[in-house]
Amino acid sequence: MADDAIHFFQFQGCLIRVPSGALVPKFGSLLLARHLPLREGDVVLDLGAGAGLIGILAARRGHRGVATDVVAGCSECTRANALLNGVADRVEVRTGDLFAPVNGEAFDLIATNPPQMPTPPDREWNDAQSRADNGGPDGWVILDRIIHEAPKYLKPQGRLVFTLFGFLGIERALEKLRAAGLDPRVLAREEQSFPRIGRERLDHIRSVNGEGILPPGRPATCPRLVLCGQKE
Ligand SMILES: C[S@@+](CC[C@H](N)C(=O)[O-])C[C@H]1O[C@@H](n2cnc3c(N)ncnc32)[C@H](O)[C@@H]1O
Repeated sequence: MADDAIHFFQFQGCLIRVPSGALVPKFGSLLLARHLPLREGDVVLDLGAGAGLIGILAARRGHRGVATDVVAGCSECTRANALLNGVADRVEVRTGDLFAPVNGEAFDLIATNPPQMPTPPDREWNDAQSRADNGGPDGWVILDRIIHEAPKYLKPQGRLVFTLFGFLGIERALEKLRAAGLDPRVLAREEQSFPRIGRERLDHIRSVNGEGILPPGRPATCPRLVLCGQKE
């Protein structure tokens, strides 16, 4: 519709245009963006690109790469933003489920801020907003697939970097990386405001939270991390 609103979001010189109804990059995106461990010449996969901030940021720093999302509208948004930022020749945008669009390829850096909010079965929906947030009953459904499959899509010494809500279990995440053959490390940690949809699911989150990270009552904040797993 002609009178639909458009949001503009600016970060480190990137201008990200987000149509009304689509997701503006939030705290997790910015944490990942601020701690992207780019090395010279890295070919980058922005997995679950949303509006494309991570891939475009890397491209603006001279990297080539691929940005994927399972939601076709997100891919369109990323494509438009790559053009807007003058990097359409460096970011190839594809639509599909996790690594399916890059089958047979390998990257130096896979960067992702995947959906990971623990979601009781009666809160599961299939719209774009839910696909951006919901991580299955314990929050790990998408993350587990990413950690398990990433080594196949990493070059030697390649790195998987991803965001994590601390209440999913930091030790648990490090152990999962080790089990996948990736050398784990914490790149960044900060206290962020407790996510709004998490507030509505507090009892559920407590019931699946293994490491007792959530304090009693109504936590105002929770730790958010950027983790890295490096292939040999
Ligand atoms: C939390 S948003 C992050 C978006 C963007 N990377 C950012 O940081 O602003 C998660 C993104 O993952 C996408 N996504 C969810 N499930 C996916 C899947 N199975 N394969 C690929 N992308 C997926 C969603 O559509 C959404 O764009």
